[in-house]
Amino acid sequence: MTVSATLSASEVNQLKKAPAVEGVLPAILERWSPRSFDGREVSAETLRKVFEAARWAASSGNVQPWRFVLGMRGTETYDKIFASLAEGNRKWAHRAPVLILGTAQTKFAKDGAENRFALYDLGAASSYLTLGAAALGLAAHQMAGFDQEAARKALGIPAEYAIGSVIALGYQGEPAALGDEELIQRETAARTRKPLSEMVFKAWGEAGL
Ligand SMILES: Cc1cc2nc3c(=O)[nH]c(=O)nc-3n(C[C@H](O)[C@H](O)[C@H](O)COP(=O)(O)O)c2cc1C
Repeated sequence: MTVSATLSASEVNQLKKAPAVEGVLPAILERWSPRSFDGREVSAETLRKVFEAARWAASSGNVQPWRFVLGMRGTETYDKIFASLAEGNRKWAHRAPVLILGTAQTKFAKDGAENRFALYDLGAASSYLTLGAAALGLAAHQMAGFDQEAARKALGIPAEYAIGSVIALGYQGEPAALGDEELIQRETAARTRKPLSEMVFKAWGEAGL
């Protein structure tokens, strides 16, 4: 399929980068969620570093409830995670060499009581993972668009583990390689955020900053 001329990967990185604010970690400014990945695999050594970043996230009671299922291209685990993805995500995620399923243990090991913060903590660890990836020059893209129960069944995830997101991981590719106008348009669109005044309140609904 022919597609219109578009931005290069490095041009799109400039566009996606958050405006510099002194003191904000570079990985936070540079992280974004691409859909184009190039053909490079991610080495085991690099993957260890990505998960090392996740490992140091804070968690309620320091129980570290997150468990990640790592699917590397060419493995059954990768194929099972991929098969659970929604069609719209399959269109681009097949280019990612690594697919990770995040899960969280919802019961405390010590007494079996419910851990209401398990998914919250998984979210924190997943964020650290994506920032760790950005710091290493990798690209990560989280997805909610997948069949949780299909993934649970295919991967044998026990019932007491809640399912979080699937994370596509790899090295960013050229936008044009997506080969689909709509995906390219999303890949090259500016990122947007609400202003701080809408999310930080000094009293409910009153801008705090
Ligand atoms: C929990 C979660 C689920 C998401 N699900 C999807 C998804 O199914 N498909 C997709 O293309 N992007 C998905 N995204 C990516 C978001 O659309 C993206 O993070 C958001 O637009 C902000 O863009 P940025 O990450 O580039 O800053 C998801 C992100 C998160 C955190």
